[in-house]
Parts: sequence; structure tokens; C-alpha cells
Amino acid sequence: TTSLEGLSAKLACLGAGALPDHASIQPLHRPNDIYRAYLIPIIAQLTGSDHQLVSESIQIPTALAHGDLTLPVPRLRLKGKKPAESCVEIAAGFDHPLFQKPIPSGIHLPFFFTPRSLPRLILPYVLDRGDSYGKNPTAGLRDPSSPELGRKKVIVEFSSPNIAKEFHAGHLRSTIMGAFISNLYESMGWDVVKINYLGDWGKQFGLLAVGWGRYGSEEELAREPLKHLLNVYARINTEFKPEQDASKAAREQGLDTAEIESKGLFAERNEFFRRMEDGDPEALALWKRFRDISIGRYVSTYARLNIGFDEYSGESQVQTTSVLAVEKALKEKGVYEEKDGSWMIDFEKHGSKGLGLAVVRGRTGTTTYLLRDVAAILEREEKYQFDKMIYVVSSEQDIYFRRVFKTVELLGRHDLAARLQHVNFGKVMGMSSRLGNVKLLSDILDQSKESMHEVMRRNEVKYAQVQEPENVAEAVGIAAIMVQDMSGKRINNYAFDMERMISFEGDTGPYLQYCHVRLNSILRKAGLTRADLESHISGNSSSLDEDTTDKHCMDLLRIMCQYPDVTTTAFRNLEPSTILTYLFRLAHQLSSCYDVLQVVGASGGRDMMLGRATLYEAARVILENGMRLLGLSPVDRM
Ligand code: ARG
Repeated sequence: TTSLEGLSAKLACLGAGALPDHASIQPLHRPNDIYRAYLIPIIAQLTGSDHQLVSESIQIPTALAHGDLTLPVPRLRLKGKKPAESCVEIAAGFDHPLFQKPIPSGIHLPFFFTPRSLPRLILPYVLDRGDSYGKNPTAGLRDPSSPELGRKKVIVEFSSPNIAKEFHAGHLRSTIMGAFISNLYESMGWDVVKINYLGDWGKQFGLLAVGWGRYGSEEELAREPLKHLLNVYARINTEFKPEQDASKAAREQGLDTAEIESKGLFAERNEFFRRMEDGDPEALALWKRFRDISIGRYVSTYARLNIGFDEYSGESQVQTTSVLAVEKALKEKGVYEEKDGSWMIDFEKHGSKGLGLAVVRGRTGTTTYLLRDVAAILEREEKYQFDKMIYVVSSEQDIYFRRVFKTVELLGRHDLAARLQHVNFGKVMGMSSRLGNVKLLSDILDQSKESMHEVMRRNEVKYAQVQEPENVAEAVGIAAIMVQDMSGKRINNYAFDMERMISFEGDTGPYLQYCHVRLNSILRKAGLTRADLESHISGNSSSLDEDTTDKHCMDLLRIMCQYPDVTTTAFRNLEPSTILTYLFRLAHQLSSCYDVLQVVGASGGRDMMLGRATLYEAARVILENGMRLLGLSPVDRM
């Protein structure tokens, strides 16, 4: 079924006639589109409508009870007739071997796939494709009719923690969502460049260096570098706090802060950072050591999440020349204003209500976060020639990114600004307090792994059968965190809930893993192999014909058919919950099937057993594909 010829042969056996061709339809990637392809010309003919309009009008209903496909008849804008009447007329004239006779429901005409066609099409369809079911490598082609023109390129920038600072929930969410978005683009045939833009520059590095001079220990740095840097920074920062407060108080009273900042840690910090900005080799060497060691640790921790970045960039990597180029252009466009020694953009003046005024270069001549980000965009454009760049960053930086993008427009680069997208997300409440004193990504992963391991140990019998309990606890523990994080719409805040997250009940990561384990055990317990299933589906008989008279089986097949449409939707809205909600629907449907559709001891003998085993194996493939897309690692036993 992976070629049009193969698919057509199957369809011929079902008496369906030649597969109609339509531009917006991809029968080789979405099984629903096979049905759509037949539906379009029939409806077009019965109503005298345009094929394109019919194609756009056909929808996938939200509930299975409302059909596999549905036509809201008013969308066809038929003249001179009430939609409900047209519905009845279309239904009366409709007849096709892949569809049951439609029964109008008000102004909607629902279509149900026949129990005969569905298993014969969908089971080979899924098994032939395996891990590509749900992907669409042609979607990323520059021009689908000339593949030699290559694929489109997207930069996904995510995670982006700050060196020597806590890896907080915002970084965790960015990591989870960013990995998902990267996987999704990859699965749709795009070239994906993953960038980690570290917070690795600024005066805080001056302070860290001062702290290192006092409290640094080579031994501890070698043992636990991230933790040690965090501690050193925290310690010096506490000492620095009174000075900082004094300066702040002075500024609020309108006093000059220069006096305060010319002494103590202030002076030491600024002096070190100035050396860094001036390119002093010794200062830079220390900074580079911290940066390199941190990256080394990050690489291995991200690997636990199956994430690898193509580039560890960072604020420090932005070139002075590109910063100057940005400023020169801003001046030429007349949007850069000087005030009290600092340079700024008044966004309000340039048609951006609500964006206020932003300092772009500070009073002491230092670059800002904003300036570095804008310059980085120009550098990346030159380096990668991307078609799209996505920033996965918390909604706390909504205004900030609007300013960044607006600045690119003010440079006269509307074309470039149009390729930039900020994908945001809400807050996680109470993570650090509920997880105890965690400050690093590895702490977060260790904690949930540990809690998961504990849950597993409670069932001694099962625990004894698990081969690599450490690895399983890790995969299930990570699934727990990730599923909790991806359950709602991105923009929603949620409260971190350890108990719920590691539970096997409810829509949790462990439940999803358990579902996979259960499906995975079916072939083993039945003593069947993948090869048995493949030879079973190669013919056109279906040993599910008896089972498909049952709603459990039919509904499962119908859900399985939708997966590629679900990934297509997720590709549009970049919501991991779109995939997750679907996987839970699949999982719930499966659990209602196990009792009714038993494999071992099936009443209809070996043939029925093979039919059902094929059904479950196809479901397992889909569950695995969905889990991997989300960045989870399905386990085989636990
Ligand atoms: N390091 C920043 C933070 O922790 C996030 C960086 C986001 N990306 C960017 N290009 N500004 O808040």
C-alpha cells in the first residue's frame, strides 16, 4: 500500500474503481484521504459543486458517533434549496462500496466507512509504513513536483538555560516543547536545525568570576561542575545583595549610583566583565572554561531525553560586527534615539501600541539582550538561510519577542520578520517547592526516576521480571514529567503534581507506557511473530469480518485511521496536547477492546487470533509513533 499501484490493487478488490486524483489529497500519507478522494467527485457531481469547494467542506467530526467524515451541507452554498433538503437528496443519490449508506442528520451528512473496507485498508496501511505512519516527508519539499529543489529549513531554538543559574520550569517546558516541535517538523520532511541559545554573557559572569576567585574549588568543579558553579554564584550573589539594594535605593531617590558602584563587589564585577568585553585573554579563558564544562554536562543530560542540539550558541557568540550593523541600520532608518547616554527604540511611535520603549544599548555602553537577539537573527539568516525560525520561550517573554520581531521590521526587513515565530507556553506552579531543592535538569530527571523506581518496587513480583529496572524507571519517570507538561494547551499554566504524575491511573505518562507494554506483550503471549502477521494481511481476506460487526473493533480501526490527520493538525497548531489527547483516546479504546477481542483463546480459531493480533500490533505501532513524536521512549516491559 505504499505505492499508488499497490493501493489501487487493494481498492480494486474492494470494488472501489480507480482512485480519483485531487490536488489537496494525499492518499499515500493519510488513509482518510483515500475515502475523501472517492467522496469528492461524487458529492461534486450530485450537487453540481466545484471539486475544490467540496474538498474544503468535508470535515472529520470530533466524535466518532458523527461519522468518519462529515459534510456540513451549508458550506456548499447551494442555491434555491434548504440545506436539510439537499442533505436528503444527496443521501438518496449516494452509493459507493467504501461507504455505508449515509443518513442525514439535519444539515450534516455523516459518512461511515464500511466494516468490510476499513480493516482491509488500514491494517496493511499501518504495518507497511511502520514508523513512517503519521509522517509526511513530502510536506517539507520546496516544490513537491521538483524534489531536487530540496527541503525547507526551520531553526528551532529551545531550552536555552543560563549558565551558573537554576534550570527552572520554564527551561524544562521549553525543552519538552522544543523537542516535540523539532520532531514534528522533521517528520514532515523539513530540515531542522536545533539551537540552544545559552544565557552565557553579561555582568553576572563578572560576578561569577569574582566568586570563583574566593570560593572556587577545582576538585568540586571536576566532580559536579554545574552544581559547583551554581553554589559559587549563589554565595557571591548573597554577599552582593546589600550593595545591589543600596544602589537600587539610591537610584529610586534620584541619587547618583556611581559612587556606590565604584567600590566593593560592584567594582570587581564590572571590572571583570569589562575585561571580558575588551577581549582580555585571561578573563575570556576562565569564562570559556565554565561555558565548555557546562555544555559538556548539558549534552549528557539532554541525551537522557533523546535530545541533541546542532548548535550550542548563546548570547556570548553574537559578533560585535553584526551588533554594529544592526545599530547602523537603526540609525539610518531614524528609529534609534539617544537619551542620557543610552540608545533606545520607542515602539509606540512606530505603530506598535503596547510595546512601549526599550533600551537597546545601555548607558555604560553595554549591549542588551534585545540587541544581541536581533543581531543573532541576521547572523543566522546568513548562516542557515532558514525558511522559518521558531523560538520556544515562555509567555513571560511575549512582549519581548514582539519587540524583537518589530525591530527586525524597523530595519526594513519585513520579509525576514515574517519568517520568525514565537511559540509560547504558560507557567508551571510549584515545581521546585514540590520536587525539593532541585536546581538542575539532571536533578529533575533523577527525582522523577527515583519516585518511579519506588512505585515499581511496590509490586515485587513484576519488579523481579523487569530486566533493566533502572532504565525502565528512567523512561517511565521521564514520561511522567513530559506527559504532565504536555497534557493541556501550551498557553495554560498548570500546577506541578508529583503524586498524580507518577500514577498509573488517569491520563498519565506511566499509563501510556503501561499501554505500550501491554500491547507489546500480545504477540509474545500468543507465540506469534511480525512475519506471521505480514503473511496474514498480504491476502485480501480479513479474518476481522466477524469482529467488525462489533463496535469496539470498528471504533478502534476508525481511530487508527485518523492518526495522520492528527499529526497534520498538530503541525498546524504546534500543540503537543493534540497528539497526546489522541493517544489517550486510542489507549482508552484499546482497553475497552481487550475483554471482547481476546487473542489467545479467540473463539474463531487461528485465523481470528491472527486478525486480532494484527489489529493490536497496528495499534501498537501508532502508539509508539505518537510517543516518539512527543519525545517519549516507549518501554517493552515493566
Ligand atoms: N536564556 C533565556 C532565559 O533563560 C532564554 C533565551 C530565549 N531565547 C532568546 N533568543 N532570547 O530566560
